[in-house]
Amino acid sequence: MTYISDKNRYQKMHYRNCGDSGLKLPVLSIGLWHNFGGNGMASESKKILFESFDAGITHFDLANNYGPPYGSAESNFGKVMKSDLGKYRDELIISSKAGYDMWDGPYGEWGSKKHVIASCDQSLKRMKLDYVDIFYSHRFDPNTPLEETADALESIYKAGKALYIGVSSYSSNKTNKMISILKSKGIKLLIHQPSYSLINRWIEKDLTKTLIKKGVGCIAFSPLAQGFLSNKYLKGIPKVSRVNENSSFSKNLITKKNTKIINELSKIAKRRNQSLSQMAIAWVLNNRAITSALIGARTVKQLKENLATLDNLKFSKKEIKEINKAAKEGDINIWAPSSAH
Ligand SMILES: NC(=O)c1ccc[n+]([C@@H]2O[C@H](COP(=O)([O-])OP(=O)(O)OC[C@H]3O[C@@H](n4cnc5c(N)ncnc54)[C@H](OP(=O)(O)O)[C@@H]3O)[C@@H](O)[C@H]2O)c1
Repeated sequence: MTYISDKNRYQKMHYRNCGDSGLKLPVLSIGLWHNFGGNGMASESKKILFESFDAGITHFDLANNYGPPYGSAESNFGKVMKSDLGKYRDELIISSKAGYDMWDGPYGEWGSKKHVIASCDQSLKRMKLDYVDIFYSHRFDPNTPLEETADALESIYKAGKALYIGVSSYSSNKTNKMISILKSKGIKLLIHQPSYSLINRWIEKDLTKTLIKKGVGCIAFSPLAQGFLSNKYLKGIPKVSRVNENSSFSKNLITKKNTKIINELSKIAKRRNQSLSQMAIAWVLNNRAITSALIGARTVKQLKENLATLDNLKFSKKEIKEINKAAKEGDINIWAPSSAH
């Protein structure tokens, strides 16, 4: 039976304007990096998409190489669009990205015009879409002039293949440059997508100030530090977890120091009657630069726990002070090479 969304889907979610644009994003967005790939989407993952939309999550974030294998998250999402979600297209904000390795040879990654345009075309085909709402340069390319990457983004935008343009994991300096280049072409940089969490606060140094000043929105990815900022790692490494899957979350990041930090943070969360994941999401949203927290989920149960964050988004001054004392840098930012320029 085809999916019909909950009539009350817009009652609980909060929406924030993305920078000084008119586009509103839900404070919680869902990403398809992990758990949505493979040969056909797992039924639990499909349920996550439906439960998300039923809860007012209008924004689904993808990229060319999400899977594994590369491209399969987009293909699977395309099938769900065709069978179930397509009728809600005008209620959805769908994003994709180009920049990380996608296909063989010199044009299969980075920021050349050749890569970025071909990648966008492939993504649209896989997702069976005429356009994406947001198209990102996924990482800064030190070997391609920024003007060329901007040129590619301009072509995509002007061809109507993307309504808005974003960058991901760019430093404050390169973001400023991209803002100016796009501005000279009559295009506004809508959004930046950086990693940000209680134990990965690099954006606070200068990026958030730039984004606020320039009216650019910010969607924080991996606000749970890939699941580490949840109750599941408090007593060690759980059997079913990203860390145990030899993927993007290395066991080396689960140090004694980091485990101590999450246990300290969990005590504060408990006093707020929240789980650690709920406090971690609420905390990211407490930064006024942040438009949306971009989460992932393996199960509907996790998603529901995270959605309940909306019940308590406020922090007292005392709580912020306690959190700042406990939330030390965890050295888990594997995307730092992109923003080092
Ligand atoms: N622009 C970029 O370069 C970039 C990079 C990374 C991600 N992203 C985007 O950001 C999205 C989110 O990234 P992410 O998946 O790393 O985000 P995350 O929210 O930090 O981590 C999600 C993972 O945490 C665990 N989890 C979630 N809720 C939980 C709960 N309530 N209790 C216990 N565990 C919970 C699950 O992992 P388990 O498998 O361990 O259960 C889940 O897959 C991606 O899908 C993608 O769209 C973008």
